[in-house]
Amino acid sequence: MMKKTVLNTDYPVDENVYYEDGQGQFYRLHNGVDIIGVTKQFRTKKSTVQALQEINLHVHNSEFISILGTSGCGKSTLLRMVGGFETPTTGKIFCHKKEVTRPGASIGMVFQSYTLFPWLTVRENIAFGLKELKYHTPSESKEIVERYIDLVGLRGFENQYPKSLSGGMKQRVALARSLATDPSVLLLDEPFGALDMQTRGVMQELLIDIWQKSPKTILMVTHDIDEAIFLADRVVIMSARPGRVREILDIDLERPRNYHVKSTPAFAAYREHCTEIIREESSKLLVNAHAG
Ligand SMILES: Nc1ncnc2c1ncn2[C@@H]1O[C@H](COP(=O)(O)OP(=O)(O)OP(=O)(O)O)[C@@H](O)[C@H]1O
Ligand SMILES: [Mg+2]
Repeated sequence: MMKKTVLNTDYPVDENVYYEDGQGQFYRLHNGVDIIGVTKQFRTKKSTVQALQEINLHVHNSEFISILGTSGCGKSTLLRMVGGFETPTTGKIFCHKKEVTRPGASIGMVFQSYTLFPWLTVRENIAFGLKELKYHTPSESKEIVERYIDLVGLRGFENQYPKSLSGGMKQRVALARSLATDPSVLLLDEPFGALDMQTRGVMQELLIDIWQKSPKTILMVTHDIDEAIFLADRVVIMSARPGRVREILDIDLERPRNYHVKSTPAFAAYREHCTEIIREESSKLLVNAHAG
């Protein structure tokens, strides 16, 4: 069979494109995100940290994936590489059959530390990416920004600077900023970590609603097992450092979902399964720590 290997170009959605890994192995690429044989090492003057080992994952177009894993297993590193903010040591990452080599407009990211520009107001922070894109007329941009200010509940704070906001409010600005550009891939690193339970629930529903109205491929890191299951089509559970994909769990719960689903036996079974694995991985960390 003739196999067309990848060049950095936009392919029609149905075109078959393959990546050849240099050793004669071909991988068919997909719409969505392809993570192929990715490892990551961090070298500092004193030591080398193997953060990720051999990650292989196909995230389907418009799929919602949650990533669970113990602290330090490389979740943020993986997301930053998919976003083009960091380069894999080995392996490749493709987004819509195109190699990710740098950050781009089609991928939106909310960082774990919800970095906002401190010299810009809430409104200006949300508008930031839109200005760069230049897709919209000024009045369209304005309308989008105002809509997101309302959607994330920050009306009344739009002229404030980040330093005068709470952690949860900053997270909501960061989420609005990443959504405003309508990226086809959205990377969320613990986007609701600083929110109280009620606001978190509201934001989860808002995210699902936006995802259903304008489908995007979402990769979301969370430490909250219920949140991971409730939102996702599949939950990826990573092993303790060096991070690997330990298990991929299909979440077979009907959509649209509302919070009642959390009290069903099916949900409880998923929860128990995830909790068990995470507990196992966390105890490995402790054993390693005691062993020196
Ligand atoms: N820039 C860096 N330089 C050196 N080591 C790094 C760097 N970034 C991450 N690491 C190391 O890589 C490993 C994975 O870090 P990462 O931040 O990806 O973990 P995580 O799974 O997101 O953890 P958490 O759940 O605590 O956010 C850790 O051991 C970390 O110390
Ligand atoms: Mg992290």
